Amino acid sequence: MAISKIDQIGTYLGKEVRVQGWVYNIRSSGKIQFLIIRDGSGLLQCVMTKDSVDGETYASFDKLTQESSLEVEGTVKEDKRSPGGYELAIKRIDVVQIAEAYPITPKEHGVAFLSEHRHLWLRSLRQYAILKIRNEIIFAVRTFFYDRKFTLIDTPILTGAIGEHAGSLFETEYFDLGKAYLAQTGQLYVEAACMSLGNVYCFGPTFRAEKSKTRRHLTEFWMVESEEAFYDNKMNMDLQEELVEYIVKWTLEHCQNEFKLIERDTAPLEKIVRPFYRISYDDAVKLLTEKGAQIKWGDDIGGDEETLLSNQFDKPVCVYNYPKKIKAFYMKPHPENEELVLNNDMMAPEGYGEIIGGSQRNDDYQSLLERIREQGLPEETYAWYLDLRKYGTVPHSGFGLGVERTVSWICKLPHVRESIPFPRMLYKLYP
Ligand code: 4AD
Ligand code: MG
Repeated sequence: MAISKIDQIGTYLGKEVRVQGWVYNIRSSGKIQFLIIRDGSGLLQCVMTKDSVDGETYASFDKLTQESSLEVEGTVKEDKRSPGGYELAIKRIDVVQIAEAYPITPKEHGVAFLSEHRHLWLRSLRQYAILKIRNEIIFAVRTFFYDRKFTLIDTPILTGAIGEHAGSLFETEYFDLGKAYLAQTGQLYVEAACMSLGNVYCFGPTFRAEKSKTRRHLTEFWMVESEEAFYDNKMNMDLQEELVEYIVKWTLEHCQNEFKLIERDTAPLEKIVRPFYRISYDDAVKLLTEKGAQIKWGDDIGGDEETLLSNQFDKPVCVYNYPKKIKAFYMKPHPENEELVLNNDMMAPEGYGEIIGGSQRNDDYQSLLERIREQGLPEETYAWYLDLRKYGTVPHSGFGLGVERTVSWICKLPHVRESIPFPRMLYKLYP
């Protein structure tokens, strides 16, 4: 007998099929027994009465528990009221395993409890939908870059040179070569590859030993980082906006069912159409001060300020030209004001804050070397990176988009922990 995924069941209308999955819900209503099963592609209502099946099958129904694994055979019928619009008239049930009492029941559970049971929590409809949306976001990113002829470059996870800044590094001993760090970014390597292939991007896990417990910080997160030869800071911002618009549009086209499952109001997402907003760091500080924030010129824009700023706009806003002293060593100094760098952060609306960090890179050997020294970074580990400024250096720019921050915003999640299958945070290493 044919085996069908639940989302394909309509193609078997009037025929018999076998469906493989897990018990989502069981109930009886008078003489009719209802079984809802899930298989990763959807939910299917299956029904039987004492007269429609043999005694053994009828008896097996009573033993079923939530999350028991099974295979069900039956005839596909149309039914407007059941999820998916089809129903299976059960002929036979083959139990694979009767599940023990399942810890996650339809009643409310606290976040701590759910997090401890993340390996099971993933099966709930809401988590299922978020993972589906995450999958679409990642596919949209790859499609976007592929269509624009960017080449994917896989950058190393174990690195000798510090990618962003000391202070949030995971270290390990690396044989006789001293310390290695888990990559904070793939940027320095895509810069090298960009001088070979022009436009490139990397997409992988990055690591920061963040001691902060916020709704935005993970210690392991996925980042997509593009690097573009002969792009200045403005072209870099244009590309970021094009990407973010593309991702949102893609999810609106491909994730309507999932948005319904998580009750995401998509009206704010429909508005994410270019042009977005751009303001300088100077103006951002003024605006924040007007709105009552305690920020001074020269301070970094912290979490609360990001929320405040992001709430002033109905589309993403790029904040550009930050003070040099609060930004990474590789950013190009502003040609007219050496206190500033040519960079930007992009803040997502609805209070979500920073989803992208980008900049034009310092393409001058001497000035880059000085910045490395000023920041007290170990010069010898950057010899190869400095080489790029010796052999045909060109203006180039790039940015990194945090996948979990983007998923959180698009799904409107209260905390970044739900945006990744197995979050890693200060107090989270299991499961
Ligand atoms: O702003 P960041 O630190 O920029 C870089 O790493 C650059 N090397 C990128 C580049 O120019 N190629 O990080 C980029 C993005 C942030 O905007 C944020 O979305 C995400 O990565 N991010 C985090 N996401 C979750 N948890 C954390 N601890 C994060 N730190 C950064
Ligand atoms: Mg940043």
